[in-house]
Amino acid sequence: MVTVLVGTQWGDEGKGKVIDFLAAEQDIVARYQGGANAGHTVYVNGKKFVFHLIPSGILRKDIICILGNGVVIDPVTLFDEIESLENQGFDVTSRLIIAENAHLTLSFHKILDQIEDQKRGAGKLGTTGRGIGSTYADKADRSGIRVVDLLNEEVFHRKLAISLELKNHLLREYYQETPFSAEQVAKEYQKFREKFAPMAKNSAAFLHTAISEGKKILAEGAQGTFLDIDFGTYPFVTASNPISGGACTGLGIGPKSIQRIIGIAKAYTTRVGMGPFPTELSDTTGETLRTAGNEFGATTGRPRRCGWFDAPLVRFAGKLNGLDELVVTKLDVLSNIPSLKIGVEYRYKGMTLEAYPFNSEVFDHLEVVYKEMPGWNEDISSASSYAELPQNAKRYLQKIEETTEVPITYISVGTGREQMFRI
Ligand code: IMP
Repeated sequence: MVTVLVGTQWGDEGKGKVIDFLAAEQDIVARYQGGANAGHTVYVNGKKFVFHLIPSGILRKDIICILGNGVVIDPVTLFDEIESLENQGFDVTSRLIIAENAHLTLSFHKILDQIEDQKRGAGKLGTTGRGIGSTYADKADRSGIRVVDLLNEEVFHRKLAISLELKNHLLREYYQETPFSAEQVAKEYQKFREKFAPMAKNSAAFLHTAISEGKKILAEGAQGTFLDIDFGTYPFVTASNPISGGACTGLGIGPKSIQRIIGIAKAYTTRVGMGPFPTELSDTTGETLRTAGNEFGATTGRPRRCGWFDAPLVRFAGKLNGLDELVVTKLDVLSNIPSLKIGVEYRYKGMTLEAYPFNSEVFDHLEVVYKEMPGWNEDISSASSYAELPQNAKRYLQKIEETTEVPITYISVGTGREQMFRI
């Protein structure tokens, strides 16, 4: 049985924690897209873990974790993460499978990503600088280098030389930057050959067997629906498909093998990097949310932009992902805000927008219609059931359910594993 877990906003919805929570009842956790741009945070017994590549399910022993073919893998980050976990007593190497056909993010991808975003000037995307776009660009261009290529020294050298020829031309002539030496890069990465070897497999075939044996598999999406390269606020998006459909192409499984699709939404909205954000708050309430919610990027440390819950956005995410249910996180952050708002409708030039706008001109000039609701003062971080929530918190959740048209099944009220309950 395959369950897909997907962010319904602009990422940072709390996926790391929810994955860790749901992993308790899984056999396998498999990541299907993105790369080291992600930052999934989990607290266990007060200890903080931040994962950029390895699925947070690794914290549950007996679980097999997979980095699927749709993930772009930075060997430096991956093996730093593995080493750090192994130093803390977690057995990673024997429980991690890496898709042989996943593409590698190498040093030059990271530099190119940073230079290119800089070059965009006022139109910069605010990428994480982790080489994500440049790695996927090579993949689409058919010049990418995969895990399986690194395993063969001769192939790796040959592909590096081809890939760097054009890039060096660009670096020298257009960006006036120092070119890369293929020999140097080959030398830098050769130590990873042996490290990858025991974990690199045909992970799709492994999953097919697991599915036929009735194993429970959690497919983990990174980023969020509106950072999706096809359906997000293009061009202010990431270079992959975080939506649930990405689980099929990013793991090599058929749509019919998926039985349950869970969306995660923060009780308000945040966004890192540039791009439209209709319910953004540039006032003290936005500051309050940032401070109370500790809204700083887990990967880059950048302050996150904060705003009210955007129901039209999450409603569209419900349809794009085929959501069966919604997990609402960080409800506790809203305590002590006297009056809360939920964006319930988009208007443009006085007219209600029935469809999500793909035209950025429209997106930039949207008018949001809000439903204002009274807040609550109680600290709800130790609540362990829906019944314990204040009336106004229940009303707020009911409004989210009604306006997004997706049933809420779980609520998270804090960073700890235990601060989450089923409705
Ligand atoms: P890239 O994925 O590094 O190319 O960045 C593209 C956009 O996606 C930027 O606005 C980033 O801030 C955003 N982004 C990428 N990964 C994450 C994430 O894990 N959480 C939130 N935003 C992200």
